[in-house]
Amino acid sequence: MDKVHGIRLDVTSTEAFLSPDAVDALAPRIQAAAADLAARRGPGSDFLGWLDLPANLAATDLAACESAAAQARQDSEVVVVIGIGGSYLGARAVLDALGRADGAPEILFAGTGLCATALRKVAARLAGRDFRLVVISKSGTTLEPALSFRVLRNLLLARYGEADAAARIDAITDSRRGALREMADRAGWRSWTIPNDVGGRFSVLTPVGLLPLAMAGVDIGGLVAGAAAMREACRTGDLRANPAHLYAAVRYGLYTKGFQTEVLATFHSGLATFGEWWKQLFGESEGKDGKGIFPAATVYTTDLHSLGQYLQDGRRSLLETFLVVRDDSPAVVVPAVPADDGGRDGLDFLVGERLDAINWKAYQGTRVAHGQGGVPCLALELDQLTPAAIGGLIYLFEKGVAIGGRLLGVNPFDQPGVEAYKREMFRLLGK
Ligand code: PA5
Repeated sequence: MDKVHGIRLDVTSTEAFLSPDAVDALAPRIQAAAADLAARRGPGSDFLGWLDLPANLAATDLAACESAAAQARQDSEVVVVIGIGGSYLGARAVLDALGRADGAPEILFAGTGLCATALRKVAARLAGRDFRLVVISKSGTTLEPALSFRVLRNLLLARYGEADAAARIDAITDSRRGALREMADRAGWRSWTIPNDVGGRFSVLTPVGLLPLAMAGVDIGGLVAGAAAMREACRTGDLRANPAHLYAAVRYGLYTKGFQTEVLATFHSGLATFGEWWKQLFGESEGKDGKGIFPAATVYTTDLHSLGQYLQDGRRSLLETFLVVRDDSPAVVVPAVPADDGGRDGLDFLVGERLDAINWKAYQGTRVAHGQGGVPCLALELDQLTPAAIGGLIYLFEKGVAIGGRLLGVNPFDQPGVEAYKREMFRLLGK
């Protein structure tokens, strides 16, 4: 398959487990699923706004985020992003992958759980530093961000007084409904809209992701351009040339053969949070009606020294998707050691080698070993970790999970199961 913005999908290491013919036989179903999505048909068809987001985003949308970001750089050393699930994971994943620009405020995340220690730590980081809040909730009623927002908003009020505090809050929420929309309109906070037809876990290319990322100095134009290029690449009816369709076909084919857990394995520490975003996207979209591949994520080579044994030798129900970066410049080169040490670690043969090149060999070796151990391996190989590549991956996985959900016969855009724990929790809390 050709590269799209330096991304290449390679499924050859699955062929011993799933024949190319079996993959190609899925093409008509994939085409039908893609046609349904394009025509806004089928379960969840009200939530397909993400399909065209990269093409529909206007320069003015990006400019609005950039202008708010310029203001944040002027008035704040820290921005606290408050949200949970789809309302924070995308921004955090991209930020951890690409890093914050010099001179941009530090970005902290809150409301991602109910842990008091985590919230205390965020509050402690604000002492003596100018800060602002970006509060994100589509429903506007989610417990975790709402409670954290109460605490942090009170800190903001105590520090700046009512009028100045109000100018330091950005609310990102539904256009009309929900508590956060009402609060923002009443208090006059600057507010941003999550499109009605875009669900939380598909919202990273809306203000939900773009505003915090712009504040961190991330190249959001590059991110969107990469997603737009991948959108184009994922429109062809040629299964073998369409990264999202091929990914969906291979993992679904493997699922029908009993491979029920997919491990997204990266060799790049910056992609660890991307694995968390991917877990939510696939877990919440596919895991319903007693069906779905369980998504897990690992960071190698670190996890090869903990989970590697299971991957190689444990119960054989795993498939693995490698997410790897070839060129991790600027280079770190293995140095020679002082003569009196004499290279006792036995690694003199690596002197002068780049660490990223060694990491790449570790990936290639792991892929062969895991294949021999009975794990079908897909690979998404990136030339470099750029905004465009990350944008491309985001779109590839969004389209992939939408097609995957259709193949499974589930609605990939709802999450009815997450209500069950809330019912029990609120009963215990006496709501
Ligand atoms: O994907 C989803 O819809 C969820 O993960 C939500 O994003 C998450 O539950 C947060 O919801 P809200 O933005 O309404 O607070």
